[in-house]
Amino acid sequence: MTDRWQQQKNVYSIEVLRDLARKRLPKMVFDFIDGGSEDEHTWQRNIDAFRDIALLPHVLRATPDRDLSTTVLGHRLQLPVMVAPTGLTGMFWPQGETAVARACAAAGSIMTVSHATTVSTKSLVETADNPVWAQTLIYNDKGFTREMIERAADAGCHALVLTVDLQALGQRERDLRNGFTVPPKITPRSAFEAMRHPAWLFDYFSNPEITMVNYAGDGKTDLASLAQHMGKIFDSNVSWEDFDFVRKHWDGPLVVKGILRTDDARMAVERGADAIVVSNHGGRQLDGAPSPVEVLPAIAEAVAENAEVYLCSGIRRGSDVIKCLALGARAVLIGRAHLYGVAAGGESGVAASLDILAQEMRRAMALGGWNTISDITRDCVALPADRIRQN
Ligand SMILES: Cc1cc2nc3c(=O)[nH]c(=O)nc-3n(C[C@H](O)[C@H](O)[C@H](O)COP(=O)(O)O)c2cc1C
Repeated sequence: MTDRWQQQKNVYSIEVLRDLARKRLPKMVFDFIDGGSEDEHTWQRNIDAFRDIALLPHVLRATPDRDLSTTVLGHRLQLPVMVAPTGLTGMFWPQGETAVARACAAAGSIMTVSHATTVSTKSLVETADNPVWAQTLIYNDKGFTREMIERAADAGCHALVLTVDLQALGQRERDLRNGFTVPPKITPRSAFEAMRHPAWLFDYFSNPEITMVNYAGDGKTDLASLAQHMGKIFDSNVSWEDFDFVRKHWDGPLVVKGILRTDDARMAVERGADAIVVSNHGGRQLDGAPSPVEVLPAIAEAVAENAEVYLCSGIRRGSDVIKCLALGARAVLIGRAHLYGVAAGGESGVAASLDILAQEMRRAMALGGWNTISDITRDCVALPADRIRQN
């Protein structure tokens, strides 16, 4: 449902939200959200891959309902779009995660709370009257890995999302160019840039100090110490045995995020994953990795009978969602699409991002003759290879 803010700002696409986010945020903060790793080839590929897939519409087929609802892990979604975990959302809008939780609940979507949330997972579960998922990592400290799992259970999260593509941090070169750090360092350049964005500056300094609640401890809450501590407990020696450790200690549904190969997908499912998120972390990790939508058909074919498959990375249009569903995904997760929204207008901005994707999906379904999600099947799209065969 389009809200007043969305109408007033004439927000009709995710790209408009991106422009609004760019205007409200200092460049270094916008680039932290928007950017990818190294040469951003994978970042670009995420967008290009969708452009190369064609939709094959039917004509003269009635679509009276254009029903977007579906289920994930047994829960009803009003649209096949969920929100991906994103750290430090409170840096983009005060209590940004709370804004996301509210907007997701209102739209009948699901929020995944990042390990690096600035608001406690428990309070987000209390805010949303629909399921909330918690994202975690495998740390070199097994006790802490277990503590994070227990926190997700205590908070009442319905699923645990284990991110497996963060064993080292991708080099984000826009951040290096801009001198961006967590927290942002005050230099003459950054201060000048921040002053040109007074709305963000006011929010940033007039709200309680931003912290990463899951890493706060030993009396330390400041972002600089926590970011340093977090870097030290990331584990680059992760293995499938660590995955088994997480599976053993988490009783609920387990979702594995960051898979790009069929053999890894099969292994995860054999070892007890309930769902796979085909993702390259929005092009922020391994530059050179394929776009998830390119590998989705093979992964869905390999595991969809035994696990749910979702796609994450590059979704900017409702038609992108339709392409993913046609190629075997049950739903998608959006990262930047909702972050542009939160940075542009808090809860209204996130609501706008979900509303835009829903409206675009309904329009595409009318134009394609697909009345429900189950009408969206493999024959609704043509991959570049399909078109070559047709010629
Ligand atoms: C600012 C930012 C922070 C992120 N933080 C996390 C995180 O804490 N955990 C995680 O698993 N993924 C994180 N991601 C990756 C997203 O979950 C998601 O995979 C990615 O944004 C998808 O690509 P898209 O932005 O093109 O939709 C982050 C992404 C961005 C842009």
